[in-house]
Amino acid sequence: MAKYDLIILGGGPAGYNAAERAAEAGLKTLLYEQRALGGVCLNEGCIPTKTFLYSAKLKDGAEHGKPYGVVCEGVSIDQPAVVARKDKVVKALVGGVGSSMRDAGVEVKKESGKIAGRTDEGLYTVEEADGSRNEAQYLLIATGSEAAMPPIPGLKEQFERGFVLTNREILDLQDVPEKLTVIGGGVIGMEMASYFNSAGSKVTVIEMLDQVGGPIDSEIAELLRKNYEKKGVSFELGAKVVRVDGDGVVFERNGREDKVAADKVLVSVGRTPNSAGIGLETIGVATERGRVLTDDKMKTSQPNVYAAGDVNGRSMLAHTAYREGEVAVNNMTGRTDHMKYNAIPAVIYTNPEVATVGETEESAREKGMDVAVVRLPMNYSGRYMAENDGGDGIIKLVVNRKTNAVVGVHMIANYSSELIWGADALITREVPLEGIKKIVFPHPTVAEIIREAVYHVQD
Ligand code: NAI
Repeated sequence: MAKYDLIILGGGPAGYNAAERAAEAGLKTLLYEQRALGGVCLNEGCIPTKTFLYSAKLKDGAEHGKPYGVVCEGVSIDQPAVVARKDKVVKALVGGVGSSMRDAGVEVKKESGKIAGRTDEGLYTVEEADGSRNEAQYLLIATGSEAAMPPIPGLKEQFERGFVLTNREILDLQDVPEKLTVIGGGVIGMEMASYFNSAGSKVTVIEMLDQVGGPIDSEIAELLRKNYEKKGVSFELGAKVVRVDGDGVVFERNGREDKVAADKVLVSVGRTPNSAGIGLETIGVATERGRVLTDDKMKTSQPNVYAAGDVNGRSMLAHTAYREGEVAVNNMTGRTDHMKYNAIPAVIYTNPEVATVGETEESAREKGMDVAVVRLPMNYSGRYMAENDGGDGIIKLVVNRKTNAVVGVHMIANYSSELIWGADALITREVPLEGIKKIVFPHPTVAEIIREAVYHVQD
């Protein structure tokens, strides 16, 4: 039995970042991670998918280089090499997180910890598999999430057979499936559809809603879908999956059933917080449909118990998790801090990328805001024109007329992932339009489109 100031359950972006910040602030910190440091993001999410998508981008660039005067024949994906590179990058980054923990003085235990109760002195107890225990004044629950497995007949059986895959298994496929069927056209669904389409699969996306990409601006969602239809991906929208057979996926639309044949199926219909089996009930932490409930200081229903990252189900993005972990630690160490969810950027790393932050025209109007909306083709950017022959990218800027500040930016175009933080900063700092006009943007960059859009706001 050892005593700590803080015990963290989960070494993903929420947990490891919070651990580092806590140790820097002088808290004696113990971090439990049962799989690998870095969590889903580093091991089977954000990072490995980016290595895949970069390989796809190189291949697509070579294959479709003709308009740019680049002719290259016989280009193909070497899937085992793509997976090997992914493993190399992940290994290096996971090692890097381990070093940061050591440098900061965080103690890391590579096993699962389970909350076992609260002592009379108000310390929380965490138990390990062999029964040994540790205590701490503060707890941070950062156990993340796992792929949701809805009760669709056949889904679980076909998952156990290896026919249905989640984001985890699909990243280790050594062969590119001839026919890949994707259930759920959200972020994971679209990114994997993008990769496997480039790698040579015949991809079909089955999506329950009438648009892909989740709750993004509907015009951008449509442009995204059209770009992928042009590349050969098929979409079944407004389609509810009713059964998974051993050779394909059956869906229903307008009372009619149809079947999409598949060699592999990806299930990407959202994520479920990992809140069961970690002993939350022993200390009475309130949950709602699996989410650990938190306030904007990341406090749970119990004193000195915080929750950050996917487990609280609030935004389920790695960058939200980083910030939530910091907010939790700041509040533990007497530095009042609040989480703000109004300007969290979201990116879909397809080709073209989608990047968005803040209010859409629709969400702003639902909140009763008087908004001006500017919609510009990306072709206003010289750099975009130079690099995107026939590109159909757009930007949408949503401006609050009352404050004369930007409240939303939505883009479909490459590099938008790298420039959305600037839009985020303008929204977070509430920079007025006149202030943005005084910023010197480098030329030629795609980022200049933001300046251009600001000049197009009508009085
Ligand atoms: P998601 O919530 O983005 O999309 C799930 C989609 O599945 C939705 O469009 C939904 O309408 C659809 N769906 C649900 N049930 C269905 C059914 N029975 N049949 C057909 N469609 C159905 O979830 P996804 O893609 O699994 O991603 C999970 C999380 O991972 C997201 O919260 C996302 O934030 C995060 N993520 C973020 C990435 C990024 O930032 N680039 C990349 C990958 C994941």
